[in-house]
Amino acid sequence: MPDILPVHLAIIMDGNGRWAKQRKMPRIMGHKKGVDVVNKVVRHSSRLGIKYLSLFAFSMENWKRPGDEVGFLMRLLDEYIEKELTTILKENIRFTVTGQTELIPEGTRKKLLDAADRSAANTGMVLNLALSYGGRAEIADAGRRIAELAAAGRLKPEDITEDNFLEFMYHPEIPDVDLLIRTSGELRISNFMLWRIAYSELYFTDKLWPDITEDDIDEALEDFAGRTRRFGKTDEQIDT
Ligand code: IPE
Ligand code: IPE
Ligand code: MG
Repeated sequence: MPDILPVHLAIIMDGNGRWAKQRKMPRIMGHKKGVDVVNKVVRHSSRLGIKYLSLFAFSMENWKRPGDEVGFLMRLLDEYIEKELTTILKENIRFTVTGQTELIPEGTRKKLLDAADRSAANTGMVLNLALSYGGRAEIADAGRRIAELAAAGRLKPEDITEDNFLEFMYHPEIPDVDLLIRTSGELRISNFMLWRIAYSELYFTDKLWPDITEDDIDEALEDFAGRTRRFGKTDEQIDT
C-alpha cells in the first residue's frame, strides 16, 4: 500500500442503474448489488487506515426520481443500517450522516441517528454517509445559520472567514476531501461536497459502482500517492 493515504476519501458511487440495465434487470437490482460493494469498500478503507470515508448515497436531486425507486432506496437504506450496525460497531467505525436528513422517512431517519449516537465514541474510521445531500444546500444552510447568529447579535459579519466557514457546515469536524473518486465514467461532481473539494485530487473510473472491488480502490489510492499537491505553490516550495 502507498505510504501517503488520503485523510478524507470521498466517493460518488454511480452506475447502479446501468449495471442492472446491462443485465436486463430492474434498476433496483443494481442498488442492491451496490450495497454489497459499500460493505466491501467500508471494511477495506477502515483496515487500510483511512480516517474519513464519505460516500454519496442519495443526493437532494435524487428525490426527483420515480417514487418507487426512491421508496426502494429508502427501504434499502433502512435494511443496510439495521444489518450493518453490528459490523460498524465491531470495526470501531464512527457513523455519521450528512445532508437534509429531515426529508428521510421518520423510522429510517431514527435508525440512522441512533447508529450515529451508538458509534459516537468510536475512535476508528469515520463513515460519513451523504444522504439527501446537496453541496449547495449545505453552503446555503451555513449561510442561513450565519445570518441568524448575526441577526441575534451573536456573531459579527467580519468574524466570518474562509478558515472558520466550515464551522457552520454539516459535521464541521470532517475535513477537506483529499481524494474524490467517481465511478461510472461520468466526469462531473453532481453537487457533492462543494466546499470541501476545492483542492481535492479527482479520480474517475469507467467501472460501474457494483463492479468496484478492493483492487480498484487500491489503484485509485496508488494514483493519489503519485500526485503532486501544490496548493498554489511552486514545486520548489513544496520540496523544502
Ligand atoms: C448511483 O447509481 C446510485 C444513486 C444515485 C442512488 P445510479 O442509480 O445513478 O445509476 P445510473 O447512473 O443510472 O447508472
Ligand atoms: C450522483 O449520482 C449522486 C449519487 C451517487 C448518490 P447521479 O446519478 O444522481 O448523478 P447525475 O444526475 O447523473 O449527475
Ligand atoms: Mg447515476
